[in-house]
Amino acid sequence: MQKRPSRTSEIRLAELVAALSIATDLGMGQPMEYVLHSCVLAVRLGETLGLSVSELREVYYLALLRYLGCNAGTHEQAALVGDELAMRTATLPVYGGQPSQIMDALVSHLRRMHLGLSSLDLDQVIAQRILVFSQVMQESAAGHCEVAQLLASRFGFDESMQQALGQAYERWDGQGVPGGTKGEAIAASVHIVSLAHDAVLFHRMGGAQMAVAVAKERAGGAYEPRSVERFCQQAAHLLAGLEAGSSWQAVLALEPGSQTSLSEEQFDNACRAIADFTDLKSPYLLGHSSGVAELAAEAARRCGLPEADIVAIWRAGMLHDVGRTGVSAGIWGKPGSLSDGEWERVRLHSYYTERVLARPRALAQLGTLAASHHERIDGSGYHRGASASLLTPVARILAAADAYHAMTEPRPHRPALSPEAAAEELLGEVRAGHLDSEAANAVLAAAGHRVRTTRRALVAGLSEREVEVLRLLARGHSKKHIAGLLFISEKTVSHHTQHIYTKIGVSTRAGATLFAMQHNLLATIG
Ligand SMILES: [Fe+2]
Repeated sequence: MQKRPSRTSEIRLAELVAALSIATDLGMGQPMEYVLHSCVLAVRLGETLGLSVSELREVYYLALLRYLGCNAGTHEQAALVGDELAMRTATLPVYGGQPSQIMDALVSHLRRMHLGLSSLDLDQVIAQRILVFSQVMQESAAGHCEVAQLLASRFGFDESMQQALGQAYERWDGQGVPGGTKGEAIAASVHIVSLAHDAVLFHRMGGAQMAVAVAKERAGGAYEPRSVERFCQQAAHLLAGLEAGSSWQAVLALEPGSQTSLSEEQFDNACRAIADFTDLKSPYLLGHSSGVAELAAEAARRCGLPEADIVAIWRAGMLHDVGRTGVSAGIWGKPGSLSDGEWERVRLHSYYTERVLARPRALAQLGTLAASHHERIDGSGYHRGASASLLTPVARILAAADAYHAMTEPRPHRPALSPEAAAEELLGEVRAGHLDSEAANAVLAAAGHRVRTTRRALVAGLSEREVEVLRLLARGHSKKHIAGLLFISEKTVSHHTQHIYTKIGVSTRAGATLFAMQHNLLATIG
């Protein structure tokens, strides 16, 4: 996208990172706000340990960023264990425990995944998976750290934070991953954040009593003993009200040190980083988010939309699929057709995108647009099933850009379509009434296809002929009379009428009349 003047955007770094932490909650198979709660606890614990403001700031951001690498290696994990999110839900509580506990959790997970197998076949599956599990998980954890470090540098975090992220899964006793570090050699922030994250998990499972019991059990093992001692002494105070009220507000109010606001350019760079974070979820998605963003922005420009809309569609394109993090890579990579249950999970991803971006105002506006990328003008899309009257021109362009770009990428059930075949398929979507023709034509032109001259923007994706029919309907003409006026059959008028009603989301002539008045469509024809 064209470079813009560097002025301050309306978003704080803390807001952006906290929003992204909602995506990483989903990517770790945890309820939303798990990381926000952990951040509050980690800072509280750091304060009782007497940390300086700069040390507390590292604790704060490390707590929020700890799972930033969560999309790394998910495709491989899903190939091994089926639903990697369910596996993470099952195993996260025991990562700080004994190796035998991790294996027990894995075996239980595999049993749940393969309920239909005979016990002999099940034993075989378990034996095969256990053989490679440790190696895959070791590589995956190392990948998490590496990816988190690389992404953090793109958000502008310094060397010290990147180093802490590289040690995020290390343990006091040296038995962590990627390994090779123990005790005091590990950053103090890592010890505090590891304990806080697990304490929140066990607090949710069994209250303060369980959180304290597990912390004591793992002192000197996974956790640094002094932090455990302080946590256990003050657990009631530290855990008080952790899940009550607005965690979002609590986290933002807690930021140690001065608040950092992003410049417009930094915000753009952060959107690019989130796009890459998202597309790591599956090898089929590489470059999808940034490709959609560039294509949609160019299409919007060709439609003559204002600069603010072009910026918004570019950013929304970068962010549109962040909710994919909350759906198993096993589904994104499944070669066969999806079951109804799997489709339901797929349909959730645009909802997750909306929720991840919902809180900071600057992201919420983008989030509403981003989360509309699977909506269709006839109301057949998801997750809201919004129809034409609710879909703005930018939303229609984003939907067409996403659809076209996805067609030109390989998917597990089909190879990538050629640009020509994708263009034909996109136009088929227009003919079927799913996509707006002007938006699709603009996307095709932006992708380098020769298309008919883009027509003047019409309301709600209605064609010229449909607007004519709507005007006459609104003026009270019968279908028979309209047919005569327009030299078409009565059956064709009925067909147009039905199409119009679907596109503008009404079911009566009165609704259509009001719509026509609202959009100044009542000028006489002919
Ligand atoms: Fe999507």
